[in-house]
Amino acid sequence: MPSGSPSDALDLLKLGPADLAECEAFLEDVEHSGSAGTVHTLPRPARRPSRLLFAGIGDGEEAGWRAAGAALARSARSETSLRVLVPRDTAPEAVRGLAEGLWLASYRFRLNDAEPDPLRRVTVVLPATEEIEAALDQARAVVTATLLARDLTNMPSDRKTPAWFARQVVKAAAGVPGLTVEVREPAYLAAQGFNAILAVGRGAAQERGPRLVELSYRPRGAKRHIVLVGKGITFDTGGVCIKPVSGMKLMRKDMGGAAAVIGATLAAAAMRLPVRVTALAPLAENALGDDSMRPGDVITHYGGITSEILNTDAEGRLVLGDAMAYAVRRLRPDVMVDLATLTGAQGVALGKRTAALYSHSDSLAGALAEAAAASGESVWRMPLNEDYAAELDGDLADIVNSTDIGAGSLLAALYLREFTGTLRENWAHFDMSSPAWSDSNDGELTKGATGWGVRTLTRWLETTAA
Ligand code: BES
Ligand code: MN
Ligand code: ZN
Repeated sequence: MPSGSPSDALDLLKLGPADLAECEAFLEDVEHSGSAGTVHTLPRPARRPSRLLFAGIGDGEEAGWRAAGAALARSARSETSLRVLVPRDTAPEAVRGLAEGLWLASYRFRLNDAEPDPLRRVTVVLPATEEIEAALDQARAVVTATLLARDLTNMPSDRKTPAWFARQVVKAAAGVPGLTVEVREPAYLAAQGFNAILAVGRGAAQERGPRLVELSYRPRGAKRHIVLVGKGITFDTGGVCIKPVSGMKLMRKDMGGAAAVIGATLAAAAMRLPVRVTALAPLAENALGDDSMRPGDVITHYGGITSEILNTDAEGRLVLGDAMAYAVRRLRPDVMVDLATLTGAQGVALGKRTAALYSHSDSLAGALAEAAAASGESVWRMPLNEDYAAELDGDLADIVNSTDIGAGSLLAALYLREFTGTLRENWAHFDMSSPAWSDSNDGELTKGATGWGVRTLTRWLETTAA
């Protein structure tokens, strides 16, 4: 129960004046500050309900309610049911925040569908107005998509092959109006010149071979077309330039960008947003095998740009380069945004929770940053520093895929920029290496995959569609 107006909520609980006095005394006693996400529990032995939780909503904005929802879900973890009472005058945005917080924080990854959680039933008591229903629908769409992204990213890579990932997309899109999926296999990729995706996937066994998934949402009457591209490395050993164990053990998360762009497109479809969205997920396992690409190899990207492989561990920009060149030439979108767990350097610069955002467009970067803030995800805009662009020049090829001058996240962004063609000014790139994963339960995040980017992209699609 949020602390906003306890008497209103208590009214709904049908508690008498004595209970109300008890609650007020309790809140005074514990000095409940009401700050967002703090919860105080009043035990009521031998009475119903057996516990009352009081959650702070801070300033009462959406973020405060999201924090309250997450804190309530977590505090009620071991209960069998939770009833959340919301004051009658609560704004729809607040309800969206509350619902997102409750649902996102209740997530747990299950490898096998066996063990159910104790907390099975969460009831939110609120007025059933049209606006509140709409806010709950939005929350449901974005949470469902985020949890799918978390599921995909948490899945161990022995099961998570590119073909497996593609099957999950086909399943998720089945029967949703406006959605179609195409899954391209290696023979198609070879015929069309997706040589970088193929080169990255070449170290893996055939049944773990690369795929290119194109999920398309085409509502009637849409004017704008947005392409979202997500890095889909189902496991990153580093290849011949193999990673040390410490850097490798979590590399099943290296398809978090692909999971997020798929999720956001599913959310757009669930919300029936009037904007055309295409998600591209270039999928490959960067494995070590007899036929792995080698440092010094030269590959030709889709569209003709050649690249000298100086480090086989800089594989994300390779698969993205092919997919982005394809998007620009064949899909001709108005805007292209890519998401990738691209560099360790990103986390060094910005820490565990904040993604790096690169774009030449102030308005696009501004809109994306605003969407991130509203949705509860954190981004920081970084410069596309031209001084470094010449570092990409190759001896044997147009560009090199790695340098050793530092500024790793920037150089990866500059590499991707080579594939934006006519869309250079209408392109944005998120390096979300560190926020894709959380080491602990924290607010609405749960330990493991966070589904980072689904919320930001979906909010942004909501505003561009409006
Ligand atoms: N998938 C990694 C980046 C990464 C590191 C993501 C840590 C999440 C956490 C990427 O493919 C990679 O290995 N990048 C290299 C690039 C370098 C070789 C230029 C890196 O960051 O070291
Ligand atoms: Mn790598
Ligand atoms: Zn990688």
